[in-house]
Amino acid sequence: MSALPHGARNPDLGVSFAGIQLKNPVIAASGTFGYGIEFEDVVQLDKLGGFVVKGLSKEPMAGNPPPRLWETAAGMLNAIGLQNIGARAFVDEKLAKLRQLKNIVVVANVFGYTREDYERTIQILNEGEGIAAYELNVSCPNTTHGGVQFGSDPRLLDEVVATARHASQRPLIVKLSPNVTSIAQMAHVAQEAGADAISLVNTFVAMAIDAETRRPRIANVTAGLSGPAIKPIALRMVYDAAKAVKIPVIGMGGISTAVDIVEFMLAGATAVEIGTASFWDPCATEKLVDELREWCVDHRVERLASLIGGLVLE
Ligand SMILES: Cc1cc2nc3c(=O)[nH]c(=O)nc-3n(C[C@H](O)[C@H](O)[C@H](O)COP(=O)(O)O)c2cc1C
Repeated sequence: MSALPHGARNPDLGVSFAGIQLKNPVIAASGTFGYGIEFEDVVQLDKLGGFVVKGLSKEPMAGNPPPRLWETAAGMLNAIGLQNIGARAFVDEKLAKLRQLKNIVVVANVFGYTREDYERTIQILNEGEGIAAYELNVSCPNTTHGGVQFGSDPRLLDEVVATARHASQRPLIVKLSPNVTSIAQMAHVAQEAGADAISLVNTFVAMAIDAETRRPRIANVTAGLSGPAIKPIALRMVYDAAKAVKIPVIGMGGISTAVDIVEFMLAGATAVEIGTASFWDPCATEKLVDELREWCVDHRVERLASLIGGLVLE
């Protein structure tokens, strides 16, 4: 067999979006990687493209009562209820530690129940140093609009993204909800309201019932479904969203192998996030970087970014 050219032995895994350069497209997803610092002894943090911290609100939140997790066929239900330490404690305690680490990319995930909540949380985070971007979780009920999710209504989505855009001193990634009729429309609304990038998908509203007790498996009754069970739907949504916008797309939903990452990139994703896979293997993100490099060597791909949007249709 002929020797591989240097590039094919040493593929360039780098990608960039919204002016942020990542050494590879593998990003740990919000809610599955703590505040990053807790994974320091498990994962070599500077090996990842980046990580998104647990969703932050303006005040600390205790979350939902247990049970909050349930394993399903090829997936997982969660109704954590957005438990978090609050934006101020994140800046003072977690970010202070993260800032001591070199060569990492930290994305702060933000949520709220009113537009003012999002605005205030971003203002607090603006004061902290060492955050590369904000990821706006719009899969939250808007308490001033009868509990309709921001991300399920084009007008509410437009308003919350415009508010966040105005408040933000950093690149803004809008994380779309998959619980919509047209993901292409929502992607376009986010772009027009000022998003620098979009990420998708968040979890699918779902439920599980214990037939013996006739009770819901999750105290909150409904919960978010994630993991390999959602991958084909997430892939289709990333494909639809990428066709609808000019801004970069970050894909996620059920990714657990390097081939999954390649599929999302072919569908149009510039980078990917890994969530549930870290629950069954806390080292999953780091291993995926190695697997991805091997995949590129095996397939003689010298520059991973050349795959973005490369789906062959004819
Ligand atoms: C336990 C758990 C907590 C999560 N918390 C958040 C969160 O705080 N903010 C957010 O935007 N997404 C949150 N997510 C959604 C994930 O970031 C991701 O969008 C989703 O799980 C799909 O990816 P996956 O199939 O790789 O897990 C959470 C997911 C899980 C499983």
